[in-house]
Amino acid sequence: MSKQRRKRGVILTSEGLQKLKDARRESEYRDNFGERYTYEKISEITYLDINTIKRVLKCQEGVDKRTLERFFIGFNLELTSEDITKPNLHKRQDLGGAICVSNFYGRTTELIQLEQWLLQDRCRLVTILGIGGVGKTALSIKLINQIGDKFDCVIWRSLKDAPPIEKFITDLLQFLSKKQLTKAELPHCTSDKITRLIGYLRSSRCLVVLDNLESLLCSNAPAGICRQGYEKYSELFRRLGETDHQSCLLLTSREKPSSVAALEGEKLPVKTFKLNGLREQEGQKILKIKGLDSSELELNQLVQQCSGNASALKIVATTIQDVFAGNVAEFLSKEMIVFGDIYKLLDEQFERLSILEQEVVYWLAINRKPISFSQLREKMGLAVSKLNLIEGLESLSRRSIIESQQSYFKLQSIIMEYILCRFAKTEDTMVLQKAETT
Ligand SMILES: Nc1ncnc2c1ncn2[C@@H]1O[C@H](COP(=O)(O)OP(=O)(O)OP(=O)(O)O)[C@@H](O)[C@H]1O
Ligand SMILES: [Mg+2]
Repeated sequence: MSKQRRKRGVILTSEGLQKLKDARRESEYRDNFGERYTYEKISEITYLDINTIKRVLKCQEGVDKRTLERFFIGFNLELTSEDITKPNLHKRQDLGGAICVSNFYGRTTELIQLEQWLLQDRCRLVTILGIGGVGKTALSIKLINQIGDKFDCVIWRSLKDAPPIEKFITDLLQFLSKKQLTKAELPHCTSDKITRLIGYLRSSRCLVVLDNLESLLCSNAPAGICRQGYEKYSELFRRLGETDHQSCLLLTSREKPSSVAALEGEKLPVKTFKLNGLREQEGQKILKIKGLDSSELELNQLVQQCSGNASALKIVATTIQDVFAGNVAEFLSKEMIVFGDIYKLLDEQFERLSILEQEVVYWLAINRKPISFSQLREKMGLAVSKLNLIEGLESLSRRSIIESQQSYFKLQSIIMEYILCRFAKTEDTMVLQKAETT
């Protein structure tokens, strides 16, 4: 087929593709013992050649409408106007103020998983969740660099300054409409603007990346609730997660929004990716590029103490250079990993916790080792109800502050050090006294 004809052709919409996939699955169960059909078999059924079949399923290059009709008839379906659309040949990107990630290390398995969710599983809403500085923004940009061309358009925006939803959606609609929408044509109410947005996300495949979502969430309340005046963002996330469209909204956040938590699931198109620290090898590379030259053992010790947090590693490396003339051993001997900007980074997150969550975190720090729910409750005194403690632990987990493994809870080592350091600094003796008498 010539390029010109492909341009004139049509592709399946997400609805059309889904219809075809469902019918194929049904037929596989009925006639093929549930085994997937090979391309050869589909070719037999549809009388189309294998390359055409691949092109149809990829939904990027246009094909003849008759080809799609034949494909559908093969699976006893009728092609309707809702099943087809024109291919969007003009891929566009607007990366706003996104940072450049030239010295990016590791994250191979993380990128593979995210790619699988966005491209193969066609997830509609994915959140990259992790504590401050772990590398969420960098990873989101790396992902755009790797798979951005698989989308008709890509838009990246930071929510750090907490834009009101009206301003934010108008900006998005302007981009998606290629600045064709005039003010008068914009729907008045937010819900209608969201409906219009979904229309665009249906008709073309877009990747919308929103960074620093935690800026829209409340502090000193259970994790994930939108701040006053920002509640409509919850509606936006809920509708983008629930409604059928062919695009993906990728969020990065220090805290999981509750509207997302309610929608996600292993077999659902809404997922959360918990981003942990960098592995030793990768963390070492950050230290080395900052000019540190030391034994493998010492560098690994630094990476572990920083829990692989990319920002913490950069800050520590700078201090070791500036204050300890690059001597890693000398720095390690001071047994002080949380200071200056690292303290500030963790402080921002600690200050957002509710009183109960702060108390839980203190207890986990004092205990140092992983602890079970009942042990923790016993230590905290029975004044804390089971229900409150469960809610507190869930909230801390949504903020990436605690980790749980086989029903045991613990803090990352960098957070533990921060809490103990905060103890000393703020002389918050109340909890300490309780701990000593237990
Ligand atoms: N894999 C990596 N390789 C090299 N540098 C990295 C990597 N990941 C992150 N960084 C660097 O570490 C710093 C912190 O990363 P980033 O800003 O992505 O963290 P974040 O999780 O988005 O933090 P915040 O919650 O504060 O937004 C940045 O300077 C970033 O370039
Ligand atoms: Mg970030």
